[in-house]
Amino acid sequence: MNLGNKKALVTGGGAGIGLAITRALVAAGTHVLIAGRDIARLDRVKAELGDVTTIQVDLSVQSERERLIAATLASERPLDLLVNNAGTMQYFALNDSRALARLDAELALDLHAPLHLSTALLPHLLARPEAAIVNVTTGLIYAPFGNTPGYSAAKAGLHEFTRSLRWQTRGTALKVIELMPPTVETALTRQYDGPKTDPARIAAALIDGIRKGRDEIRPGQTKALYAMSRLAPDYIYRTLNKAGDKVPLD
Ligand SMILES: NC(=O)c1ccc[n+]([C@@H]2O[C@H](COP(=O)([O-])OP(=O)(O)OC[C@H]3O[C@@H](n4cnc5c(N)ncnc54)[C@H](OP(=O)(O)O)[C@@H]3O)[C@@H](O)[C@H]2O)c1
Repeated sequence: MNLGNKKALVTGGGAGIGLAITRALVAAGTHVLIAGRDIARLDRVKAELGDVTTIQVDLSVQSERERLIAATLASERPLDLLVNNAGTMQYFALNDSRALARLDAELALDLHAPLHLSTALLPHLLARPEAAIVNVTTGLIYAPFGNTPGYSAAKAGLHEFTRSLRWQTRGTALKVIELMPPTVETALTRQYDGPKTDPARIAAALIDGIRKGRDEIRPGQTKALYAMSRLAPDYIYRTLNKAGDKVPLD
């Protein structure tokens, strides 16, 4: 896919991996609409990059997502690329009294939001001459953390939804891409004490993958994790979870 003179919506484009993707897309000549809750953060990105528009929205709320979808479809510039990036990762015990509420909240943002945006914007994107949906999952789909149950469930669900979407849209001009980052240096991994990748490297891998028409993009350590999960799934699951256990439950 050629990124010049296209329009993208990047959820969570004001920080972390989403910000790096926004910077890389703008550098590639794409106009980007960034969505998030923190308007000051969104304004700072607009001031830095120029060719960006912003919308303040809480993606965990269905009516807010509907407002974003309506604004996207009403825009003069038609959307070509949807990047479902916004997400959260919570460490908690399933026998905690708040566990069910926490699962609901995490699934709303990490799973329902990308499913909602992808489905609602699909007819529009299928009518474009060249378009793509990028769903950001994680290398942890190959060895999920036991202490992040909502995240693990949501990302596994998003991984399989992405495959369904790719299957149903095969033979069209829509490309369905899954980006599976390894551990990246962002607010989301603040408590995790281990090697972390620069978000700019993840964004560069995505841009390269979009241009080359890749379906699944496994940057950095995700590539090794994928291979090891095929060779020794139980070993890699236990080893990763020992590292994950070092993060305190909230
Ligand atoms: N960091 C990693 O190691 C890593 C690894 C694999 C996959 N990922 C995935 O990469 C994606 C981005 O993560 P990140 O590390 O960049 O996290 P981050 O730095 O915490 O950024 C999260 C982004 O999501 C937005 N967001 C959070 N809650 C939202 C809500 N309710 N409504 C709208 N926007 C919301 C935030 O903006 P506001 O706070 O302004 O709303 C922010 O822009 C996530 O899907 C994550 O699962 C991250």
